[in-house]
This record gives sequence, structure tokens and C-alpha cells, in this order.
Amino acid sequence: MAAKVAPIPVIPVSAARWEEVAARLGPTARAYAAAQGFAGKSGRVLVLPGSSGAIEAVVFGTGDDEGLAQSPFFAGKLATELPAGHYRLEGPLADANLSYLACLSGGYRFTKYKESDAPTVTFAPPTGCESDRIERIAKALAAGRDLINTPANEMTTDALAAAARALAARYGAHVEEIVGDALLRDNFPIIHAVGRASASPPRLVSIRWGDPSAPRVALVGKGVVFDTGGLNLKPDNSMLLMKKDMGGAAAAITAADLLMGGNAKICLHLVLPIVENAVAGNAFRPGDIYRSRKGLTVEIGNTDAEGRLILADALAFADDDEPDLMIDFATLTGAARVALGPDLPPFYTDDEMLAEAIARTGVAVQDPVWRLPLWKPYRSMFDSKVADLNNAGTGGFAGSITAALFLQRFVTKAKTWAHFDIYGWTPTAKPGRPEGGEPQAARLVASMIEAKFGVA
Ligand code: BES
Ligand code: MN
Ligand code: ZN
Repeated sequence: MAAKVAPIPVIPVSAARWEEVAARLGPTARAYAAAQGFAGKSGRVLVLPGSSGAIEAVVFGTGDDEGLAQSPFFAGKLATELPAGHYRLEGPLADANLSYLACLSGGYRFTKYKESDAPTVTFAPPTGCESDRIERIAKALAAGRDLINTPANEMTTDALAAAARALAARYGAHVEEIVGDALLRDNFPIIHAVGRASASPPRLVSIRWGDPSAPRVALVGKGVVFDTGGLNLKPDNSMLLMKKDMGGAAAAITAADLLMGGNAKICLHLVLPIVENAVAGNAFRPGDIYRSRKGLTVEIGNTDAEGRLILADALAFADDDEPDLMIDFATLTGAARVALGPDLPPFYTDDEMLAEAIARTGVAVQDPVWRLPLWKPYRSMFDSKVADLNNAGTGGFAGSITAALFLQRFVTKAKTWAHFDIYGWTPTAKPGRPEGGEPQAARLVASMIEAKFGVA
């Protein structure tokens, strides 16, 4: 973006196209590429000098992957491998939009506390891409990453709510916020119980936007600003990264940002239960029983299964509007990572059409997800002898599925519902995906909703 100099061309080159591209280069560049043994090998980035020694062009090997067709996000490599300068990816590109997004997304850095010493690499939009829309998406994505990357000493419950309020203000949306003991007054008993031990009070943020007569879409996100595990304290290694336990809220905020920014023809309800799962004398305990907003009683089997608890009240609240579509995002279980790894969040729904739309959109926008089943026979794993439900499944099997089944008990009026058990974090950088916070599934959900209900 920005810079006014002519961009340096970056030419994607498959092995098959290399000779044809080489013939178009200046003699110095061509000789240099030959000396370096460039032949279009996938992922190779080679900066080519002109006769003056300045950069004439860059060749970017795509192997057999003609025109970045199979993985447009591969172009994100450029953001981390090029020397400082202003570049433009040349065609032919199978997906100019995604290739541009990958370049911008790959250049994200978290610089709040330490300046980056990486070279400043900027990109002009490639031909044929919708640059305004893609730049808007990249910005929303970066804002979502910033939320997750900001540590819990600054990303307090109030700070996360403030970020949601700021988003609402930007789009003239209506905000309601219920804080601390007011949660008891307004019947959010479990959000209060989970969050009451923190010096940073628990809250529920409810944001409404759009034409009230349009289809109603509810987005719900788990906002645990830090998860110590509570009295069932996590061991040190498991606690280390728990600032990211508000990744679901960050994903919901990012999706809402994309939908409002894109003027989707929906009536949006963004619901964020926000707490810190802390340890103190007034912390909720194993064995406690609470009557949830929905009326179901829940026995606490494990204070570390707090996400499903705050979501229970938040989902029941959003469900009251009988939304046409309800989607929640949550860094809900370690088991999801065991099953599918950090880069492929599982999603759950009983709606075959919705499942198909989610899977298809995930592939189309390179926001990968994988469906797992809401396997009803496993419901007995969270039976309780003294309450309607226990929040921790017995047996230790199928943890992500049982958590999803638990949530499902609190959704009865929404026409259709899907749940994403995200990791919210990229442990090792990949093209277009820098290490750190990642509001997984937000782009996919926003795209799917735009396709389903249209944009104004
Ligand atoms: N926030 C965690 C889940 C988590 C852990 C997500 C690590 C990503 C990485 C959640 O609150 C949790 O602690 N879940 C427990 C549930 C168990 C106590 C039933 C888990 O998955 O171990
Ligand atoms: Mn937990
Ligand atoms: Zn958690």
C-alpha cells in the first residue's frame, strides 16, 4: 500500500513457465537467475538485479502449482522473504484477491511493545483484485490478531469490552454492557460465577447492528482474557499461552467487523461473555452447582472447563431472539488440538446445508476448518447425579465433541447453529500466517454469511 514509487514486479514462475519468463528478463537478470540455478522450484524467492545493480524484478517459484492456484496464501511468503521495497505480484494469478490478502496478512507484526527490525515490505494490489475490500479485510484481521497478542495485564475484561465498544461506535451499532454484580440481577449466573474471583470484573457485551427486519445473525465469542484454570489450576506449561483464551471473542469481533464493514444484509447480534478465570477466596469451586440462565442446573466438575460455562449463559441469551443463524467461536478444548492440530479448527453443526457451506467457504477463502460430529450418544458423558449437567465430561475421551454437545443443550430456538473450537494461535509461522494470535474462522464465517444473505 502507500508508497508512490513504481512497484517492483514479482513474477510467479512455475517450472513449466520458467523459460518463457526468462526470455522476457533483461540480460543481467537472466544471467543472474541462471547463475543462481533458478528453475521455478516451489517457494524459491530470487531477487534479480538490473544492469545498474538495483532490483529489476523478483521471481517466485511455484513449482507445479501453476499460478498459485492450489494455495494462493503461498504468496504470503513474499512478505517475510523480500528485502525492503515496494512490490506488486504479477499475473497470471488464479485468485488475485487471496494472493494480495496473503501478502498483506503475511506482513502483519505485533509491534506494541517492541519495534520490528524486519525490512519494510509493501505491496501494490495485483491487477484484477478488489483492493479496497482486501485491504479492509487485512485491517480487520490485524486488529483481531492485536487483541489476542496483547497480554492479559493490558487485555483486561474492560479492555476487551472497550475494543468491542469501539468497533460498535465505528459502525453506529447499539451497545449494552452488563458488568459485575449486575450479571446476577440480569440473570447471567454462570458468567458471574466464573468471573467473580478476578479484580477485573466479569461482563457481557451485547452489540446490535443492522436492519431489524433483515435475517437475524448472532455471533458469540468466548472472551476469557486469561485462563488460570481456576481452583483446578493449570500446570505452568499449560497456562503460559492462556492470554489467547479470548481468541473466540476476537474471532467474533473480527467477523462482525467484516460483516458491518461489508454492509451485509443482516441484523447482527454480537454477544461476548468476558471474564478472567482467576483464583481467589471467592472463586467458584469444584462441586458447586449453579442454575444457568436457561434454567438447567450445572454441577462444576472442573473449574478449568470454564469456556462452556460462560458460553452457556451467552448462547441462551442470544438464542432468545430466535436468530436465523447462530455461530459461536471458542478456544474451548485442548482436545481439539490433539485431534486436528493447531491450524485446522473443528466445527460442529447438525445442519447439513450449513456444514456444506462452511466447508466449501473455508476452502474458498483459505480459512481451513474440519467438521466433527455432534455424536449424541456421548451426551451421557456429562451426566450429573445431582444436577442436569456436569461441565466436565467423564472418561477423558472425545473432549472437543463433548464440549460441543454441552453447548448444544443451551441452543434451542435458533433456526440453525454452528460452533467452532478454535486454537486462536499460529505456533509456527506459515506463508501469510505469522506466529501468534489468529482469529481463525472469522473470514470464513463472514464470507459465508455475505454469500447467504447478500451485501447492500
Ligand atoms: N482454554 C482451555 C482450552 C485450551 C487449552 C485451548 C489449550 C487451547 C489450548 C479450556 O478452558 C480448558 O481448559 N479446557 C479443558 C477442559 C477440561 C478441563 C474438561 C481442556 O481442554 O483440558
Ligand atoms: Mn480452562
Ligand atoms: Zn479456557
